[in-house]
Amino acid sequence: MSKKSFETLLTHAGSKPDEYHGAVNVPPHRMSTIVFRNYADFEKVPNVPYSYGRAGTPSSAAFEEAIAAIEGAYRSVSTCSGLSAIVTVLMAFTQAGDHVLMTDNCYGPSRKSCEEILRRFGVDVEYYPPMIGANIAKLFRPNTKLVFMEAPGSLTFEVQDIGAITAAAKKAGIKTAIDNSWATPLFFRPLEFGIDVSMMTATKYVSGHSDCMLGVVSTNEESWPQVKRTALMLGLCGGSEELYLGLRGLRTLNVRMLQHQKNALDIATWLSAQPQVKRVHHPALPSCPGHENWKKYYKGSSGTFGIILHQTDREKIAAMLDGMEIFNLGFSWGGFESLLFPEQPKPIRTATAWEEEGFSLRLHIGLEDAEDIRADLAAGLARL
Ligand SMILES: Cc1ncc(COP(=O)(O)O)c(C=O)c1O
Repeated sequence: MSKKSFETLLTHAGSKPDEYHGAVNVPPHRMSTIVFRNYADFEKVPNVPYSYGRAGTPSSAAFEEAIAAIEGAYRSVSTCSGLSAIVTVLMAFTQAGDHVLMTDNCYGPSRKSCEEILRRFGVDVEYYPPMIGANIAKLFRPNTKLVFMEAPGSLTFEVQDIGAITAAAKKAGIKTAIDNSWATPLFFRPLEFGIDVSMMTATKYVSGHSDCMLGVVSTNEESWPQVKRTALMLGLCGGSEELYLGLRGLRTLNVRMLQHQKNALDIATWLSAQPQVKRVHHPALPSCPGHENWKKYYKGSSGTFGIILHQTDREKIAAMLDGMEIFNLGFSWGGFESLLFPEQPKPIRTATAWEEEGFSLRLHIGLEDAEDIRADLAAGLARL
């Protein structure tokens, strides 16, 4: 496709109607075995487009082509979940004796993967204060191989100084990677910014309908062989239906994200004025740590943010949560529906203390009517 705007790429990238009887989206390809008609063709492997389901199918190729286009990446590789995409990145650039810098506000299972996999294989993991900025350079060691960022951070939503961290790492010849699941390339494009690797859980906004598990890693040219090879050797691949749903989700990512943004900003602003709410951590509001960085680097905000309630009494909190009509409790976000997640950040941190007293809630604001969402929350707050 000739150079097209982001919205047009979202709508058309990866689409191949001529190859699929006019079907607008590439249909799911359920393939494990791929047969060869003769020995000469067999001998061409691996220099053929498809040789075995795990190594790639037209479904993965279409999804990866579309993601690479919207990320402005050299290439992308799909995996079976966001977490497997993270593990791919962690393992691609490290070996025994190396040192990795991971942000202290990372997604919980990213931390567990560092602890339970990297450490077991002899990689030293150090968690750094998310707001460290250019001072990250003070933590660099001769064996530092990777700086992993996540912005905004899981649960606590600090927005890192991505520019300062990336510049320092680049100067020292250290690879940089970011979990870009919250923003998606609609609001932030890491590769264009000089970050080597961008990963996303496509389970969230990309697929957008809370019915699919999928991950994707996008890289610059230099980082591609290591990432692709690692995903392959870890045996990771997206399922055919999931890849189809991921690609289909991309087609409406733009409109969904803009509506999530509008609803979430509306609700976050309203929550800021409620007496039961101590603080709102929405990157687009000044009360969020790193709001200045959000203004500097991001083109918009998605539907997920955090609040801290004054109330900490378990029975009162349960009364609030159990009586919600629109919101459900769930370990997720990024779907069309509103969700609440009551995990507390304090016990998770190690490099920085989470000093904020009160009860933390992560909100994902869905595509319901904003007035209905507000009414549900207002009734919930009144039960505290
Ligand atoms: C920020 C972030 N990254 C990665 C993941 C992992 O994605 P998945 O659930 O697809 O493995 C999650 C899941 O909640 C997440 O919140």
